[in-house]
Amino acid sequence: MSTESQSSTKKSVPKQGVYIRTFGCQMNEHDSQKLYKILEKDYQPVDAPEKADLVLINTCSIRDKAEQKLYSVLGEMRELKSSRPGMMVGVCGCVAQQEGESILKYGRGVDLVFGTHNLSLAPSLIQLRKNGAPPQVAVNYREDWEDLPLGFADTDPTRHGKTNHVTAFISISRGCDKSCTYCIVPTTRGPEVSRAIAEIEREVKIAAHRGTKEVVLLGQTVNSYGRDLSPKISFVNLLDRVSAIDGIERIRFMSPHPQEVRADFIECVSSNPKVCHHIHMPLQSGSDRILRLMNRNYRRAKYLKIIEELKSRVPDMAITTDIIVGFPGETEEDFQQTLEVMEAVQFDLVYSFAFSPRPGTVAASIPELISQEEKLSRLHALQAKQERIMASRLSQWVGKTVDVLVDSYSKHNDQILQGRISQNFVVNYAAPHAGVTIGSVVKTHIIGQKRFTLIGEPVVG
Ligand code: 5AD
Ligand code: SF4
Repeated sequence: MSTESQSSTKKSVPKQGVYIRTFGCQMNEHDSQKLYKILEKDYQPVDAPEKADLVLINTCSIRDKAEQKLYSVLGEMRELKSSRPGMMVGVCGCVAQQEGESILKYGRGVDLVFGTHNLSLAPSLIQLRKNGAPPQVAVNYREDWEDLPLGFADTDPTRHGKTNHVTAFISISRGCDKSCTYCIVPTTRGPEVSRAIAEIEREVKIAAHRGTKEVVLLGQTVNSYGRDLSPKISFVNLLDRVSAIDGIERIRFMSPHPQEVRADFIECVSSNPKVCHHIHMPLQSGSDRILRLMNRNYRRAKYLKIIEELKSRVPDMAITTDIIVGFPGETEEDFQQTLEVMEAVQFDLVYSFAFSPRPGTVAASIPELISQEEKLSRLHALQAKQERIMASRLSQWVGKTVDVLVDSYSKHNDQILQGRISQNFVVNYAAPHAGVTIGSVVKTHIIGQKRFTLIGEPVVG
């Protein structure tokens, strides 16, 4: 009997469609995957809001631009709702956490608002609303680790939204105990809470069982993992335990904080064969004066020393970072110091941002001396510099033979596969090849480069 006829004899109620629009970081991507899992009893994912009975907007508030997007999407949803009576719209994520009930005022037509600590309440909020209750709001913090269904890592933990199970994103902690003066995250995600190591292991094992080869451990400051657990445990212990799980070939993590980097961390990432040769470590600024104003409690010399130690042990280690330009009071001299650090480190990739004042943060109350024009001109100068550095970093791979973990279909052509090298650069194959299949590690000759990616051909024989 086919699966189809089996299910039809059970006369199950057809599921409704859910579409989740996600903004922001990996945490939000990950929360969206959890939501699909939480809702799967009643809803199946659809690929466009026009086909959905429930649209969730998972929001980001890290910068003003990200927050503004919510309001334009809500406008679109209002229009859609007028042609799809019965459709529900929910707002979740960081803006929901921060704004709570006031979203109902700006966003007419919103049925649900729930915060970053209340994902598991979604089904009951939806049900209440369906039963005729007024729009529902749930934005309370939880001090414990939210009880979510295990195994969500196997739902669709993919890059580019194509279902495969090669890479699983696993939360190891949530929230943040640092207080960088520009940052809204401690407000929207609360204090740092580590997840029990047994739960992390269990989830990684489930993922491995489903064919996952690579895990990405997620947390705001991954290297402070476990200090709040009892008994205490360190991030390095966690890396050791995860790397002992059969089937997991690669481990990545995001993001370590420079202030928390100790010798055991450097030792582990440079010697554990499963830990990828890639560290994403936010710099934010190359000027000690600005780092102090940002309340980033390390100095440029410390950052450079960490990089030097990592690179002296692992010469092919890729280093990527986040940088903010135009922090209040940043002078041309401070900015030049950031460019100097870029020159010294030769980052493989930089995510760069113009400072955006976030309501309630310390930095938002410092008078802004830098015009938007000046901020953007610094941002463009930084990006132009990074473009040159990145081209040179990519060019070092051309002519080499590397291991590529094939993880997804090309964004531009679904006949063609792509994968990543340990250093996290994407390698695109120019054509389909036998032996290049999702989940395989393929010896690959790098034959060229594009702006952000490499082009490869499998080594035959
Ligand atoms: N303005 C600009 N960039 C910011 N980031 C965080 N808060 C702000 C802000 N208020 C950047 C930091 C962080 C990244 C995720 O976003 O570089 O590492
Ligand atoms: Fe924000 Fe700083 Fe925490 Fe990162 S470490 S989430 S920038 S407060």
